[in-house]
Amino acid sequence: MASEPVNVSEFEALAKKALPKMYFDFYAGGAEDEYTLKDNEEAYQRITIRPRVLVDVSRIDTSTSILGYPISSPIMVAPSALHQLANPEGELATARASAASNTIMILSFSSSYNVEEVAASCDAVRFFQLYVYRGRHIAANLVERAERSGYKAIVLTVDCPRLGRREADIRNRMIVPKLKNVEGFVSNDVDAGGGSNLEAYANSTFDPTLSWKDVAWLKSITSLPILLKGILTHEDALKAVEVGAAGVIVSNHGARQLDYSPATITVVEEVVRAVKGKIPVIVDGGVRRGTDVFKALALGAQAVLVGRPIIYGLAAKGEQGVKQVIQMLKDEFELTMALAGCTSLKDITRSHVRTDRDRF
Ligand code: FNR
Repeated sequence: MASEPVNVSEFEALAKKALPKMYFDFYAGGAEDEYTLKDNEEAYQRITIRPRVLVDVSRIDTSTSILGYPISSPIMVAPSALHQLANPEGELATARASAASNTIMILSFSSSYNVEEVAASCDAVRFFQLYVYRGRHIAANLVERAERSGYKAIVLTVDCPRLGRREADIRNRMIVPKLKNVEGFVSNDVDAGGGSNLEAYANSTFDPTLSWKDVAWLKSITSLPILLKGILTHEDALKAVEVGAAGVIVSNHGARQLDYSPATITVVEEVVRAVKGKIPVIVDGGVRRGTDVFKALALGAQAVLVGRPIIYGLAAKGEQGVKQVIQMLKDEFELTMALAGCTSLKDITRSHVRTDRDRF
């Protein structure tokens, strides 16, 4: 029997064993040279932590809230597509594990279970991630249904006017099988031309005209707060504030879209400075350790999202695996706080980290 994983990264090998190569590569892969994929994780390793000692750390509080909703730690579940390829229970299992961990799951537009099914899986605060297809009716319909089913925010992904070039999927001729829910992913209805139906599908459906003015359209069809996911510059962070976003997610889509976009942790400060505390900043990409969560918060993020490790937990051990992944990160984060001399999130400050741009 394989040994029990002792950290989040070790779930990757278990997932690789559990999944057909085509699906593992789909989850694990990034765009083109996968430079950004590597850098998302390595950039965290270039940041060191400046601990404070002789602080009473007998009680540590990792809790926080996002848009007013309490969560047990600043670790949330990123929207990711097609969980049913990892486990038959798919997003239902992920939703239950997230709820049991007292955190917020962002359900992907390309979920294999629909918004109502996931809402019915268990009671919890959840957000819904949106892609906008050509002709706005599918997006409008899903936003309306998400709102009616009790989702508390819309996360508009803004880094996907077209699908990034993921060469593993092209090489494997990645074909998404017919899954339960086909609204967000009408997989069998596209002619893949002998290649990946994912690419053919996305490029025939995503609306490349989506622009800043469409945030107003989205606001006109929902009363839910709107977070913009995929912001990487201070210029766009400012625009996000201007158009009335309720928050931004610093993200390069797990390095699956534009290769050579910056590792997300390296641009968090730039975005935080631009929004001047007016709206929360969340970051995702490469978070694999509790120390990473600590570093993101020290640089001004309010929370992090975790993508691939959640899927790997699901593939390796179903709902239990997702719970374990979240718990491991939370435990490591709590330990990091203790060792750095921080007893609550407000104690974590910029002076607790050193980046390669800092001079002392
Ligand atoms: C994603 N991501 C993503 N984002 C989104 O807005 N909608 C989606 O449907 C998906 N689907 C998706 C599938 C897979 C397999 C992956 C790995 C990622 C991006 C995701 O929300 C998040 O930004 C990254 O996964 C974060 O990086 P890490 O944690 O995977 O390194």
